[in-house]
Amino acid sequence: LPLAFYGTVIHCRSLDDLEILENCIMIVGTDGRIQALQAGVKSDRINSILSENGHVPDVFPVKYLKRGEFLCPGFVDTHNHAPQWAQRGVGRGISLLDWLNKVTFAHEAKFQDPEYAKRMYASCVTGFLQQGITTASYYGSHHGQATRILADVCFEKGQRALIGKCNMNRNAPDWYRDPSVSDSLHETRELIHHVQQLDPEYRLVKPILTPRFAISCEPELLDGLGAIAHEHPDLPIQTHFNEAKQEIEFTRQLFPEFDTEADLYQRYGLLNNRSILAHCIFLQEGEMRRIQELGCGVAHCPIANTTMQDFMVAPVREYLRRGIKVGLGTDSGGGYSSSILDAMKQAFIVSNAQQMLTQGRDSALSLHEGFFLATLGGAQVCGLDDRVGNFAVGKEFDALEIHTTDLGQPGVMSPIEDEDTTHVIFEKFLMTGDDRNIVKVYVGGRSVKI
Ligand code: GUN
Ligand code: ZN
Repeated sequence: LPLAFYGTVIHCRSLDDLEILENCIMIVGTDGRIQALQAGVKSDRINSILSENGHVPDVFPVKYLKRGEFLCPGFVDTHNHAPQWAQRGVGRGISLLDWLNKVTFAHEAKFQDPEYAKRMYASCVTGFLQQGITTASYYGSHHGQATRILADVCFEKGQRALIGKCNMNRNAPDWYRDPSVSDSLHETRELIHHVQQLDPEYRLVKPILTPRFAISCEPELLDGLGAIAHEHPDLPIQTHFNEAKQEIEFTRQLFPEFDTEADLYQRYGLLNNRSILAHCIFLQEGEMRRIQELGCGVAHCPIANTTMQDFMVAPVREYLRRGIKVGLGTDSGGGYSSSILDAMKQAFIVSNAQQMLTQGRDSALSLHEGFFLATLGGAQVCGLDDRVGNFAVGKEFDALEIHTTDLGQPGVMSPIEDEDTTHVIFEKFLMTGDDRNIVKVYVGGRSVKI
């Protein structure tokens, strides 16, 4: 069915262009794409605009949004771990490598069991959709079968997703790693094949190459993944990149021939404009220049960065200044929350810390910059900004319907007052709202929130 809305619409046209459209008509065609978006429309003009777009007004239900209600683009989570869904909230204040060995691998190992995977992934994808995440870039476990199940679940529930079988054949217990390089590559190819059968045009789900990080991968495995990346120039690539001092140090011991992680991943053919690099805390000058030139994207995951062991601050302002693509990641399990609203708020805190650490050189993120990272910025990082991220006509309708009043249940959002402008209402939602305020979630025009 086509859809039409009339009311307030908020989206970003670029990093520094937040658009708040009032008395706006939004028309979504039967193909799930935005057919018309026009602001400042008097209500008596709605029918003629519908007719101009080929719709018969009387049989076409227009949804009228009241004051305190608006549409915004769906959130994009550029980095999270589906098999850590039941691990959120467990294990703070320990180092990354200890956390992997003591907490994480045991959780992920349970996805050996396909029944467990079906149940847990159904809960995970439903949970992300409920929180307004219309696009997610997922790390699966190392299991091929469970990861194919994750792709099926996203497809069935209607979430736009990048799905990665996690490649890892060393520095993990023998009960939780790929038994060989050839097995790891074989399972990766099986996933690609599976998704091609499931969704031939990658309309909704797409495979993503996912070396966990260089510590987990023997050089031959990285080589093989680089070859697959070369063979499939349409597939994105994700890895953890310069996340912790301990990890950088260990990587250098394993690969003494490379000065930096950028050198390493580039040498293996894994650094290009399809790469999603999670964390990017400790980049050297040359690495920043390289990832800018190559067009790599940064998945900024401030919750994990500030709750593991140290308070780690990614220089996001510096990346934005250099024109590097940046989006937000929940890093859900490493981050305790799977909410992009929470990740955005933590990004504000971390950017305040960076402003202080640089004595004002790196200014803190503004509200609309945070919202940009959560939407269009994330879409750019995932290589999907030609299809989603904002409400440009022709893009797919990935959208949230937000209600800040009359929820019919006691919410905790800051109450709306008579004098509040739309901008203030929007700010109150971003800073104090939660999934209860997200009453409808659309992906490609399909309503997906239960
Ligand atoms: N580095 C390697 N694996 C992981 C992981 O699961 N989470 C995070 N945050 N960092 C990692
Ligand atoms: Zn991660």
